[in-house]
Amino acid sequence: SKIPPIHNEPFLDYAVGSPERIKLRKALEKVSSECPHIPLVINGREVKTGQIGKQQRPDKHQQTICEFEYADHSTIEAAIQGSLKAKKHWETMPIDERLSIFLKAADLLSTQYRAEACAAVMLGQGKTVWQAEIDAAVETIDFWRFGCKFAEEIYGIQPPENVKGVWNRAEHRPLEGFVAAITPFNFVAIAANLPSSPAIMGNVAVWKPTESAMLGAWTMFNILREAGLPDGVIQFVPAKASDFAKQVTHSEHLGGLHFTGSTAVFEELQKMIGQNMAHYRSYPRVVGETGGKNFHFVHESADIDNVVHNTIRGAFEYQGQKCSATSRMYVPNNLWPRMRERLVAEAKTIKVGSPDDFTSFMTAVIHERSFDKIQSYIQKAKESSSCKILFGGRCDKSVGYFIEPTIIETTDPDFVTMKEEIFGPVVTIYAYDPKHYVETLELADSSSKYGLTASIFAKDRDAISKAEEILRNSAGNFYINDKCTGSIVGQQPFGGSRKSGTNDKSGSASNLMRWVSVRSIKESF
Ligand code: ALA
Repeated sequence: SKIPPIHNEPFLDYAVGSPERIKLRKALEKVSSECPHIPLVINGREVKTGQIGKQQRPDKHQQTICEFEYADHSTIEAAIQGSLKAKKHWETMPIDERLSIFLKAADLLSTQYRAEACAAVMLGQGKTVWQAEIDAAVETIDFWRFGCKFAEEIYGIQPPENVKGVWNRAEHRPLEGFVAAITPFNFVAIAANLPSSPAIMGNVAVWKPTESAMLGAWTMFNILREAGLPDGVIQFVPAKASDFAKQVTHSEHLGGLHFTGSTAVFEELQKMIGQNMAHYRSYPRVVGETGGKNFHFVHESADIDNVVHNTIRGAFEYQGQKCSATSRMYVPNNLWPRMRERLVAEAKTIKVGSPDDFTSFMTAVIHERSFDKIQSYIQKAKESSSCKILFGGRCDKSVGYFIEPTIIETTDPDFVTMKEEIFGPVVTIYAYDPKHYVETLELADSSSKYGLTASIFAKDRDAISKAEEILRNSAGNFYINDKCTGSIVGQQPFGGSRKSGTNDKSGSASNLMRWVSVRSIKESF
């Protein structure tokens, strides 16, 4: 049977006086005044270990948003074993019934829990109202709905040929074992999707949400439970990262890893899988989305206003904490003086404030570790003779982890802030000689180890074509005259290669295909 037509969830604008704004205000008050104690959930049962962690509010780090329990060795083992038991029922459940759970979860989030989910990520993860809406509402809903659509399409793929007396079939089986889902702080949509997309395809997942995004993850987990997700299909297992990694990679039943986070951690996990290879019943599928050093490349034919507007958004929305964020830029030196002036003027209008002030454009960065790392990169630029801080650069963690939007100009295209991922509101600009357009494209391609997102800004079609050609492997998501952030599920499948991940495009069928193992069946009559 056909699932209902799937479209992207419309955005709400939370206009002054609108019902959604009133609801969100109430939800923010609730999140701010309650501090829930979140248990582990194994086989549908709430479990406590007594090892308690806290999620702090980034813009007011004295305030705890929630407490949660860390899993210990036996709890993680129980989660793995319980998921394998749950798998027997889950993978034989009729597909329609399985999909209806995720469609219902999307509806529940859209209509009943939108405000609660947005409030959880606004205060818990330092998102403005707009950044919360596109993540905790729209993208999560889209991942669930489009996941169902893609699943239906995948199950419909059958061998094209049948000769006389033969019926060939493809059975899209889930993987053997369980999938370990290890999820990041920056998008609750990604956090919810990493266990969900394998589960949509009939797998079971043991999910480790990260500490600094626990309340958002918990909200999504509860929506899935209310939508009818059977016990044990997704196990909710907050844990210390290294304990969890060691144990899941050591299990003979590891069927897959669905990861979003840093390149270093992803490489470590792959090494652990390599070391455990002899244990496994099947080779684990490894799907990861990691870092980026994404850039805007400007040709001299570009529309300056468009570049400036998109750079401000790409570099500073969500404090530059998107894996796709614009963090370096190449600008022709004949446009640069005008562009510099416009960029700085626009940066001056940015309001950095608390997430519950609906006029804030930016808020605080996620935690102290992150704050210190970003600050140290800004310090390097301050100390370098090749750099000038054109705007921002001040950092203050006395109340919350606030960092100004920071624009650095450098004469050294290999300066560290042009090469390394900072994951904060910092963009570095290198002005190039437009006579060396091609060479500078080559430089942009070769000067970082990543390959996630990039944009070309130009009106000249030949310049666009040249950029497309030279930057072919520099980005899994390539934009023309648009910022390099903000991919939409079902429209721009997202992911990169090189050291940015396995490029198994989230928000597309190719990701879901990773969670099935096809059995070819030939029947002769
Ligand atoms: N998919 C997110 C974006 O494109 C990370 O910004």
